[in-house]
Parts: sequence; C-alpha cells; structure tokens
Amino acid sequence: MKSDTIQDARLDSEKLPFHVAMIMDGNGRWAKQRLMNRVKGHEKGSKTVRSIVTAARELGIGMLTLYAFSTENWARPKIEVSALMMLLKRFLVSERDTLMTRGVRLNILGQQEKLPEDIQREAEKTVEMTRSNQGMVLNLALSYGSRQEITQGVQTLARKIKAGSIQPNDITEEMISDHLYTRQMPDPDLIIRTSGEYRLSNFMMWQAAYSELFITQTLWPDFTRDDFVEILINFQERDRRFGRVKCSTLKDGSPQ
Ligand code: FPP
Repeated sequence: MKSDTIQDARLDSEKLPFHVAMIMDGNGRWAKQRLMNRVKGHEKGSKTVRSIVTAARELGIGMLTLYAFSTENWARPKIEVSALMMLLKRFLVSERDTLMTRGVRLNILGQQEKLPEDIQREAEKTVEMTRSNQGMVLNLALSYGSRQEITQGVQTLARKIKAGSIQPNDITEEMISDHLYTRQMPDPDLIIRTSGEYRLSNFMMWQAAYSELFITQTLWPDFTRDDFVEILINFQERDRRFGRVKCSTLKDGSPQ
C-alpha cells in the first residue's frame, strides 16, 4: 500500500483497478427532482467531482478519467453550455493547489481546440503545473467523443500511409491505441456510470473492450465516496478473463 493513501479496510490494494473511468450522469434529473434549474445540478455535480477526485487519490487509484463534456453536449442550450464551461474553468483554477498538494497530474482528453480560449489557457496552465506529479493521473474528457477520437486517429494514420512512412499492413491494435487521446495510457479497468442508464454514450468505445462496467442508480450529484468504495469492492469480487477461460487448478490443466 502506498504510504500516502488512506485505504478502506474492506479493499485489497493488490486487487484495486488501476484506471477507473466515470460517466457522470444525472445532474439534470437531480435538479428536476428538486424543482431547480439544471445548472444547479451541474453545480452540485462539481462538488461531487471534487470529493470523488479526493477519494480516488486517497484510496490509491492510479488513474481517474471523468467524462465532463461530450462532443454532443455542444448541442445543449447555450446557457447550459456556458454554465458548464464556467464550472470547468472554476475547477481548473481553484483546484490547482489541491492537485499539487495531493500529487495529482491533470490531462485533458478531447478536442481542446473547440473549448473557449480562456478554458484552453487555464487547462494548459494546470496541465503544465501538475506535469511531474506522481500520485494519480486525473483525465478530464472535455469535448470528447469516441467516434471523433477514432476518426482523427484514422485520419492521422491515413496521412502517414499517404506519406509512405507506414504501409496499411503495418497498422496494429497498439498503433491505433497510440493515435487516440489516451495514447500511452492503460485501458480503463472499470467504467462506472451513474443514474441508471445502460449505455456508453460515445465514451471510450475502443478502450472499453475489456473494461468491467458498473451502473449505479445513484445520480451523480448524490454519488459519494462510500458508493465508490462499494463499487470497488464489487470489482474486486469479479473474475476478469479477457475472453479466456479461468486457469484450472486441475493437474491436467483442463479448464474448470
Ligand atoms: C450529465 O448530466 C452531466 C454532464 C453533461 C456534465 C458533467 C459535468 C459536471 C459533473 C460538472 C462540471 C465538471 C467538472 C469537471 C468540474 P445530465 O445533465 O445529462 O443529467 P440528466 O441526464 O439527468 O439530464
């Protein structure tokens, strides 16, 4: 166990997922249930982001990816998009010190060039400042869409073929992975989606090939550290086979 993490006694640090990705859903419904504006749900959702980043770091998670804004979210009402951008900017600025003291390194996954210039600047500043941190990696997926990510990767590979630097048969799965925003990162071991929706919604479709999925009914603004711990306990009880059969303890090696 890392000495700077606060483990939960019910967790086995050897069996923790390294990379946890989260589809943070249900902010709008949380607000609607309280007869509030959707933006209030996003505000409460930002507070959950802070507590879950802290919890992930303390529990010893190596990499946390949060789906904060999708390529499709640009089509939401302008006022909601502006509110989300304001909350993102607030997070990027106000969390800098905390990310530094907790040793968290920030990355942005997605079409950074589509983000408002002030957000791009603040994101770059926080990414740069936290570059050498070793405690945990926090990926914020911003203007992220899996189809767009794969499309831009395919375009880059096609340009390399056209330039003659690679041949079509040189393309491997690893090469495709290396042309995604998640290049050099391990695939998520666990993807959690809040609010009871059973879909990936254009999130990490390539990387999710063997991710364990966990859908909780809890809405994102209500999601707590305890909910997270319960899901990690559930993950540790799962048998990940990656398409193979479980190794037998039988002497002849036949599958159980
Ligand atoms: C989905 O809820 C959530 C989002 C589209 C955005 C997630 C944003 C935050 C949690 C706040 C800001 C983020 C950071 C990193 C500070 P929804 O609006 O689709 O909910 P609904 O399905 O109930 O309508």
